[in-house]
Formats: sequence, C-alpha cells, structure tokens
Amino acid sequence: MSTPASALSKISAVSKRGASEFAADVRAGLSKPRKELHSKYFYDDLGSALFEAITHLPEYGLTRADERLLRVHAPDIARLIPAPCTVIELGSGTGKKTRSILTALQPPSGRLRFFPIDVSADALARCAHDLADVAEVHPLEQSYLHGMASAVAERKLGESLLVLFLGSTIGNFERSCAGEFLRNLSQCLQPGDALLVGADLVKNRERMLAAYDDPTGLTAAFNLNILGRINRELGADFELRNFEHQATWNEPERRIEMHLRSRKDQTVSIAEADLTVHFQSGETIWTESSHKFQLSEMADLAGETGFQVAAHWVDREWLFVESLWTVR
Ligand code: SAH
Ligand code: AVI
Repeated sequence: MSTPASALSKISAVSKRGASEFAADVRAGLSKPRKELHSKYFYDDLGSALFEAITHLPEYGLTRADERLLRVHAPDIARLIPAPCTVIELGSGTGKKTRSILTALQPPSGRLRFFPIDVSADALARCAHDLADVAEVHPLEQSYLHGMASAVAERKLGESLLVLFLGSTIGNFERSCAGEFLRNLSQCLQPGDALLVGADLVKNRERMLAAYDDPTGLTAAFNLNILGRINRELGADFELRNFEHQATWNEPERRIEMHLRSRKDQTVSIAEADLTVHFQSGETIWTESSHKFQLSEMADLAGETGFQVAAHWVDREWLFVESLWTVR
C-alpha cells in the first residue's frame, strides 16, 4: 500500500524540523566557550545499537542490576499499583528490562496498555515488536514531556498510571534540571499515580570509571558516534580519528563526565549548521554527565518534586536502587 502524499509531506516536515533543531543545538553547543553537545543526540540507529551493546559489557553493571531488581521485585511493585493501570516508559530504548514488570501487571481480563516514549525510532520499533506479546504497545517517538502529554491524553476513566524511568537515565540530567523535570512530570500525573525510578548509586571510583571507559572500546565508539552523526546528518567533516574518548569522575558533583578530546589543532565545518569551529589540541567537547546518587538523596528528590517514596529496593552486587514514588 502506498503512503498518501499528504502523509509523506507531514513526515518530511517533521524530519526537517528535527534536523533544524539538531543543527541549532549543535551550533549553540559548539559556540560556547566550553564546547558541549546534548547527550540525547547519541541515539541515532547506530548509537542505539552501540548503547545496547554497552549493556552487555562486564564493566557496565547498571543494566544487570536494574534487571535483577525488576525480575525479583516486579510482583512487589505490582502489588503497590492500583488496578486497573496503564504503563508509560520514559526513554524505553528497546524495553528489554520492561518485560518482567509488564508481565507482573497483567490484568485479569483485557490487555495492559503500554506507552514507550523515545527519540530513537529504531529502538522504539524493536520495543514495540518485542513486547507485543505482553501488552498493547503504543510507541511514541517524542521527547519525554511531549510524549507524556500524548500518553496522559489517552488515560481512561478510573485507571492509574505507572511511569517507568529506568537505567539511571535520570542521572543524565544536570541535578537542578532533574528536579525541574520531575516536578513537571508530577504535574502531568494525578494523586495515586506512580513513578518507578532506577538510579545508579555512588560506589567504588574504579568500578564507576571502568563502566564508562571499557577496554573493548564500545563506550568510546558510542561517544565518537555523535560526531559521526553530525557528519551524516548535518554535512560536517569531523575526522573521528582526530578525537579521543575521555571519561572522568567529578567528585564534588558526583558524576562521570564523558568528553571528546581533540588530538590536535584543527578546524571543522558543519554545513547545515552554517558553522566553522576551531579546536585547540587538548580542548574537549562535553558530551554527557552520568550523575550518581546517595540513597538518602532519593527521598529528598521525591519530596521536593511532588512525590513521596512508597518503597525502594537496592542491589548490593552493583549499588543501584529501584525507587517507587507516588504522587502526593
Ligand atoms: N531505558 C533503557 C534505555 C536507556 S538509554 C535502559 O535503561 O536500558 C536512554 C534512552 O533514552 C535512549 O533510548 C534514548 O534514545 C532515550 N532518550 C534520550 N534523551 C531523550 C529525550 N530527551 N526524550 C526521549 N527519549 C530520550
Ligand atoms: C542512558 N544512560 C543512563 C547511560 C549512562 O550510563 O549514563 C548512557 C551511557 N553513557 C555511557 N555509557 C552508557
């Protein structure tokens, strides 16, 4: 069946808007005195595949800790959620870890509805395909809060919402932005709705660093791919071999920072962003922060943003918490 011309022009308008927003963000980020790129741009098709590969690394313990907690405690979580309920997931990726919680929430009759929200079309398509046997999946290729607005608009009378924000993706926000984001999120919800947040806890410095600087080089490839994406989508001429991956632990801020360090003096042109950028040897582009949490911080964060902690579960093998919050 062919796609109608009106739908095609709508799709092309949306992808042009996406490209111009990408160009504007790249231009703004690389024009700052301290150059930076937003980590949401890691996740094109290749970036999502590289992230998926990272989750299998022995050094990246976050995903396995998250999976262990969800597998063991999914029935406990389900008992605390008022039925009937609909599940929304922020930054679902492929949704591999979500199966156990969807399985535990199966209603006695009818199908559980699941709205995964993600900016990565590829990851979202896999998620919709892989979880179709446990839920009626409604994928939303949108940013977090736009996706929330779309999903909340589908709420049925008398049902509660469970929002999942797994994998410590909350750690990719600046701490002050995380608070603002969670406050906005609670305002989209109603008293009694719930949020399950997975957060990586502060642990041994070497373990944390190895998770972001693995000897296989997968995290380096994931980091460098953001420059490859700018080449492919914005007609830039980054020479990826002229940059190197760097991961550092920032103790006062309690976060891992990823940077791309220029190996030499060089100039790069980004046609679609109408920008020429000069890099000095040793200068870096800040690409991601992964904040790590203290357990006590979670209750404060919940209290400051319109939630309260209903329960939490900690993985002792790789310090990680699954924290269940309800809207006050
Ligand atoms: N939840 C999964 C995937 C984490 S990777 C897990 O725990 O393993 C982070 C995911 O968030 C990626 O799939 C990425 O595409 C998505 N993402 C990043 N920034 C986003 C944003 N602003 N809005 C929506 N999705 C976003
Ligand atoms: C998605 N997010 C929580 C990951 C993290 O650990 O900050 C992304 C990542 N960056 C490097 N490795 C994985």
